[in-house]
Amino acid sequence: MTISPDLDGARLARLAEEHSTPTWVYDAQHIRAQIARLRSFDVIRFAQKACSNTHILRLMRTEGVLVDAVSQGELERALTAGYDVAGPNEPVVFTADLLDRATLRRVVELGVPVNAGSPQMLDQVGAASPGHRVWIRINPGFGHGHSRKTNTGGEHSKHGIWHEHLAQSLELVDRHGLDLIGLHMHIGSGVDYDHLEAVCETMVKQVRRCGRDVRAISAGGGLSVPYEPGQPEVDTERYFRIWDAARQELVSELGHPVRLEIEPGRFLVAGSGVLLSEVRAQKPVGANHFVLVDAGFNDLMRPAMYGSSHRVSVLTPDGAPRVTPQRQTVLAGPLCESGDVFTQLEGGEVESVPMPRVEIGDLVVFHDTGAYGASMSSTYNSRPLIPEVLVDGPDTRLIRRRQSVAELLSLETNLPA
Ligand code: LLP
Repeated sequence: MTISPDLDGARLARLAEEHSTPTWVYDAQHIRAQIARLRSFDVIRFAQKACSNTHILRLMRTEGVLVDAVSQGELERALTAGYDVAGPNEPVVFTADLLDRATLRRVVELGVPVNAGSPQMLDQVGAASPGHRVWIRINPGFGHGHSRKTNTGGEHSKHGIWHEHLAQSLELVDRHGLDLIGLHMHIGSGVDYDHLEAVCETMVKQVRRCGRDVRAISAGGGLSVPYEPGQPEVDTERYFRIWDAARQELVSELGHPVRLEIEPGRFLVAGSGVLLSEVRAQKPVGANHFVLVDAGFNDLMRPAMYGSSHRVSVLTPDGAPRVTPQRQTVLAGPLCESGDVFTQLEGGEVESVPMPRVEIGDLVVFHDTGAYGASMSSTYNSRPLIPEVLVDGPDTRLIRRRQSVAELLSLETNLPA
C-alpha cells in the first residue's frame, strides 16, 4: 500500500509508532503536484477551511498560492503563515455571509478585502471603512454538491447575495464608496461540467448587469477528487478552458484584463492526507462484524456528516499490507454514539463493506482525508485533538502536537467561583 513514492506502509507504521495513533499524515509532494495542475489560472486561492494548519498554509504561500479566510481565526492563521495582506492580487480575502463585530474590526484594521455574502456585510464594512476593497459573492439561483449539505447555491442555501439583488448591493457599494474588485460564485463542493458551464454563463450575465469595471472574477472551489477507485480525476485543463472562455468574453467587453481566480480546498489537499488509526476491538453483533478503531467521528467527521466513504487500507503493526482474506465489516470508532461509524450511508444506515480480516493492533489507514479531516475535528467525548505530521521527501515534521487532556480542561479550571 503506497500513498505516494514517499509514503509507503513501512513509513506509516514507523510514524504510528513514533506519534502514536490516531494521527494525521500529509504528503507535501502530493500538494505541490495538485497545485501544478491548476497553474493555468491567474490566481489559485486556497480555501483553508479544508486544512488550515499554518504549516500547510506556509507551504501554499511558498508555492505562490493565495488564501481565503472565513473567520478571524483563519485570518490570524494566514498572517501567522506569513501572508502579506498588502501584497499584489489581495493575498488574503475574507469570504463569509456575516461579519461578527470582532472580525469586522480586524478586517478593517488589516485592510483585508471582504467578499460579501450578504448586503449587510457591504453596509457594515462600508460604514466602518469607506472605500474598503470588496468582492460580491453571488448565489446564481442554483447549486450542486456531493451532498445536500455541500450544495451552496439556490434558494435553500444561505450563501451569497441572491442573483436578483445585485442592483441593491451595488447601491451600497456606491453609498460607501467601496472599491469593487470582482464577482465571485461558489455553487458547491463536487461541481460537474454541466453546472460549471451554467455558472460561467451566469457570471458573464452578472458582470454585464453589474455595469462596473470589475478587475477579477472568481470561479470558487468545488473541484472534486476521486475518493473511490475508478472515480474520474477532474480534467483541470477543461475546467480552465470553460472559465477562460467566460473571462475572454468579459475582457473583450470591458477592454482590459480580467483576473481569473480559482478557490479550491479539497482538490489541493484531500489526496495528500491519511488518518492512521489502530484496531483495538472487534466483535460479531448479530449478522454484522464490527471492527473498532481508536479514531472517531470527532477526528474524521465526513462519514457521519455526509455518509462519505473513505477508502481504507489495513497494515500489520510493522507496515505489511493485509489484503486477503476479506470479510464484510462495519468499521466504527470509540465514541459513545451509534453514529460513530465510518461505513454508513447519507441517511445514517450502517453499512457492511468488504475489508481485509484484521487483528488487534493492526493499523487502519483512512485515505484521502487531507481535506475536511483535521479541520472539522472536535473534542467530543473529551478526546483531545490529535497530531498532524507533514512528510516531505525524506523529511518528516510534526506540524501539530497532540493536545493534552490538561489543555482541554484548562479553559474551565481556575475560574472564579
Ligand atoms: N470557496 C467557498 C466560498 C467555500 O464555501 C468552499 C467550501 C470552497 C471555496 C472550497 O470548496 P472545495 O473546493 O473544498 O469543495 N466539509 C465538506 C465541504 C464543505 C465545503 C464548504 N465550503 C466536505 O467534507 O465535503
